[in-house]
Formats: sequence, C-alpha cells, structure tokens
Amino acid sequence: MKSAVRGAMITFRADPFIVPDEESLTHLSDALIVIENGKIVAVGDAAELLPSLPPGTDITHYRDALIVPGFIDCHAHYAQTPMIAAFGEQLLDWLNLYTFNTEQAFGDPAVASEVAAIFLDEQLRHGVTTSAVFGTVHPESVEALFDQARRRNVRMLAGKVCMDRNAPASLLDSAQRAYDESEALIGRWHGVGRLEYAITPRFAPTSSPQQLEALGALAARYPDMPIQTHLAENRDEMAWVARLFPDARDYTDVYARHGLVRPRAIFGHGIHLTEPELDRLAENGASLAHCPTSNFFLGSGCFDVRRTRQRSLPVLTGLATDVGAGTSFSMLTTMNEAYKAAQFNGHALSAVQAFYLATRGGARALGVEDKVGSIAAGMDADLAVLDMAATPLIRYRMTRVRTIGEAMFVLMMLGDDRAVRDTWVAGCRWMPSGGLAGAFGDQ
Ligand code: GUN
Ligand code: FE
Repeated sequence: MKSAVRGAMITFRADPFIVPDEESLTHLSDALIVIENGKIVAVGDAAELLPSLPPGTDITHYRDALIVPGFIDCHAHYAQTPMIAAFGEQLLDWLNLYTFNTEQAFGDPAVASEVAAIFLDEQLRHGVTTSAVFGTVHPESVEALFDQARRRNVRMLAGKVCMDRNAPASLLDSAQRAYDESEALIGRWHGVGRLEYAITPRFAPTSSPQQLEALGALAARYPDMPIQTHLAENRDEMAWVARLFPDARDYTDVYARHGLVRPRAIFGHGIHLTEPELDRLAENGASLAHCPTSNFFLGSGCFDVRRTRQRSLPVLTGLATDVGAGTSFSMLTTMNEAYKAAQFNGHALSAVQAFYLATRGGARALGVEDKVGSIAAGMDADLAVLDMAATPLIRYRMTRVRTIGEAMFVLMMLGDDRAVRDTWVAGCRWMPSGGLAGAFGDQ
C-alpha cells in the first residue's frame, strides 16, 4: 500500500565540506515523496509524480514547511535524562556528583523502561529518528531501551556501558562480565528490526587495560559492529588518561592498540585531538560526534569542525546532543550551537553544512548512510517536517528570506521543538501516545 508526503524538501547529494553548498544540496519546492512498506520508493517534483500514483493514495500535504531527512543524533545517554541541566560542574566532577548517582537506578527494569520511553518520545518530538545511545552498566538498561525503541520503530545503535574502575562499586562490571553481558545483548538484539548493538566502553579512565582488551576481542568477532565511547573531551580527563596509560602514545592510541579505532567506531567530542590523532582516526575510518551544547555546558572546549572535515584526510563527523551533558534534544538548537562553536574558531558554518551534519553526515559517521540520512528511493522513510511558521518571529523572519539556505539558517537559529511539525518513522507519522503525564504522577 503506497502513501505519499508532499511539500518543500531538501536532501543532500554530496558533502558540503568538500563541494560548494549549491552542489551538495538538492531542494525541491514542491516535492512528492512516495512511500511503500516503510521505505521511500520515489522522490520528485509533485507535478511529475502525482499522475503515477494509484488512485486513492493517501497524500499528506505540508504547507509552510520544509521536509528534511529525519535527524540523526550521533551520541546521547538516555539514562541521563533525569539529570539533564544539573548545575555547576565540569566533566569529572559532573560525573561523580550527578551522573553516577543517577545511573545507579537503571538496574531496575521499571525505571529503565520509564526513562527510555520519555527519552525516545522527546527524540521523536524533536524529529530525531536515528541515534547512537549509551545505556548504563546494567544489561537491564539496554533491554528496556531496545524494547522501547522497537515499539516506536526508530533506528538505534545502543549498548551497555562497560566500566570496571574509577566509579562507584555498584556501577562496575569486570573485563569478563563486560564481554559476556555485551555478547548476550548482541545475541538478543543486534539486527532485530532497526536496532544494532554498539560495543560501549564508557571512556578510557573507567576501563582497565584488561577490559579494553576484552572489548577489542569482542569487536574483532563482530567486524561490522558499531563501537561508541568518549575521547579527548576535557583537559583534566586527558591528563588522567596520560597517567593511567603511560605506555600509550596519546589518548587515541589507548583505544587503537585494542582494535577499537575502525570504521563505525564513534568517538564523542574529540575536541582536543592532535593532528596525528586526527590522521589516525581518518586512516582507520573512525568517526567523531560533535556535541556543542554539551561542550559549552561543561566548559569542555570549542570543537573545530573545519579542522576535522576540511583536511587532506577528513574525519567523518556527525552532530550529537550528548544528553544529559547536552542541554537540548533539539538538533536545530544543536546546529545553532555548532554555528557558534565554529564562529569561535574563526569561521562560519553554513546552514547547508549544519543540516548535513545533522542528517547525511551523521548517517555516514554511524555507517548507516545506505539506510537513512537522505530522502531518496531505497532509503527508510524517516522524515522531519519543519514548520516555517512555527513561531510569530520565525513566520515574520521567513517573509524576509530570499534563498533556501537563508530559510534553513533561520530555522536552525530560531527553531527548536516548536519548529518540528511532524516526524515520520519508517513511513508512519509518529503520534505521541501517553505524553509525559505519568512522569509527574497521577493527576
Ligand atoms: N565521559 C565519560 N562519561 C561521560 C558522560 O556520561 N558524558 C560526557 N559528556 N562525557 C563523558
Ligand atoms: Fe557523552
């Protein structure tokens, strides 16, 4: 059974960090996106495609809107939803004072399910249809997350956090348990529907060399499997890593020597990497997740996306919220902050580049570009419908724009969840079910 979505649309045919914006962006002012069995089967000008549709095809027509590929969040922690916007600390104190306390509750499947549902509904409200997500050390946390993700049919890469030192005892596994529990989750969830398991050491300071070795061995058994962790986020963290791993050449080497730097290895942050480390990531096909709201919130630093993308060996780079150190589920807000990070590094990130990072660039960083990140035949029918009249100010400002690039820029600077009119997940329009009422108790 076919259906279709109609309206103004953008997608990417090339990388705007390599070719000029005009050559990378495809813009159709009146597009028809034809969907069948959750996939896009045709895209083109509505006038041309409409006659080919079977009579009675259900068409959803969006006016004053811009249809974009469903957003891709390359790095987030669902279990930190209860503590998003926790005041006052930088990374290591923030972990000890807030994060580890919050994560201890996620051995309880009821807590994990409730928070996973809130997290996923927030993502969908913000037009995010694919993400790479950290659980906690508890396998139950990942069971609950995958279960809730499957109910909503989102695309998700997720894994159990592995850590065997430098955290409260109740949050520690061991090298062997990390291996065994990860493998059991792989057996249950990897490849189920749109779900993939991601091997997830938290970061070097909380894994012993033995644990990293065990996870490297697990990764070697699953050469196509995603890996996610943190890298070079904070200066104190980096000094600590240098003390903990005195034999390593640099922070990247800590992971690389265990086979954890490879295609589909996604490293959160990477703000303070050296040129040789960027070369090594690029040569090995690994990716970075740029998390600007988190980097500003924790005072971690100012990631330079031009430095990672516009070099002789570009590093695959996606955009990410890093909730709950990140302060927003909105990829529009995250693009806004990425623009400001770029400004601080002395250059301007164009709207075309920012939207690329939040869609096709993120898909490439996660290794899912053959499935999502573009509006094209053969892709999953994941769409975010952005509202060009979302607020009085956006509506007014849109009367003054002359190009699609300007309109996109206004959306990313002034937009947030109010600017997401609809989210389509694998060909279905997402509708919030229970809302958040349960989170506040019965009323
Ligand atoms: N480094 C290690 N763990 C974390 C985390 O939970 N959030 C962030 N932002 N950085 C980390
Ligand atoms: Fe993170």
